Amino acid sequence: MKDSFNREIDYVRLSVTDRCDLRCTYCMPATGMRFLKKTEVLSFDNILFLLNRLAEQGIKKVKITGGEPLTRPDTVALIRAIKEISGIEKVTLTTNGIQLVNYAQALKAAGLDGLNVSIDTLDPDEFREITRVGDLKKVLAGLNKAVEVGLPNIKVNTVARGELTNEAICEIALLAKASKIHVRFIELMPIGLGKGCPGKTQEEVILALQQVYGELIPFEHRLGNGPASYFSLENFQGKIGFISALGHCFCAECDRIRITADGCLKTCLHMDDGCDLKEALQTENKEQLLAQVFTAIQKKPEKHHFLENQGDSRLMSQIGG
Ligand code: 5AD
Ligand code: SF4
Repeated sequence: MKDSFNREIDYVRLSVTDRCDLRCTYCMPATGMRFLKKTEVLSFDNILFLLNRLAEQGIKKVKITGGEPLTRPDTVALIRAIKEISGIEKVTLTTNGIQLVNYAQALKAAGLDGLNVSIDTLDPDEFREITRVGDLKKVLAGLNKAVEVGLPNIKVNTVARGELTNEAICEIALLAKASKIHVRFIELMPIGLGKGCPGKTQEEVILALQQVYGELIPFEHRLGNGPASYFSLENFQGKIGFISALGHCFCAECDRIRITADGCLKTCLHMDDGCDLKEALQTENKEQLLAQVFTAIQKKPEKHHFLENQGDSRLMSQIGG
């Protein structure tokens, strides 16, 4: 599938739930979150029907996102089933890691091709503050377990919050030294509660790292699906990556679409509209589904407009990060 700017669309980010077992301050309010009802969320069968039809149209990579995907009981079974779809080459998962220690082995057995674990700080108290309820020990146990069972392509994602100190940046980067974990700093995007939160730029993070670890050497090869740019550090097994949607816009290479937990197709993270695929999925109406998908992809915008307007009023957890 090609969009009107000749970009090949072969990657879908699929949110399997809007629920989460954390309440990160830049993502969700402390209380009063209203979640989708079970009946509003795409079922296992809806998802498989959708991905089968998308794979027939050239989708090759699937990222499972949330909310927190591991709060959905059938996520591992879903991954196993998606791996069986002809044409799907890579299935990866983004998680906050809270329940990872219990699932790492099963994810490996299901054939998962890559894992992103979100860790914003290695200070347990600060972790609790950011996530409001999270226990860093559990996440680190999950990360270690993922390495131990041999899950491939493990990445740690750190949101570059304004409060992130140079020391904290260097401490998190160390995760990429001891084992082959890639550490990526994500620029804070003005989405949901992230609007108005202070952030650090890619350049500030690079400076902090260079002062301690020496030169960051650009790594030209692509790792995984994404828009990240990577650098090598001497004596580090993993790479250091940056995803900077604002500072280093990567829209020209965008190859993705998103599906929300309730079955809306979004062609850009920032766009306010979505195309509701739910009815076509529930009735397994292939013609209706493909007509909707093709029309939406033709309207995929050339680039995000984060800086010009407010965009989607939903929270990140409702869109699927
Ligand atoms: N800007 C950048 N990253 C965000 N995330 C959630 N909200 C934002 C935001 N406003 C991140 C989470 C997680 C990923 C799924 O999205 O921290 O790493
Ligand atoms: Fe949950 Fe991720 Fe939002 Fe944190 S950022 S509350 S882990 S969905």
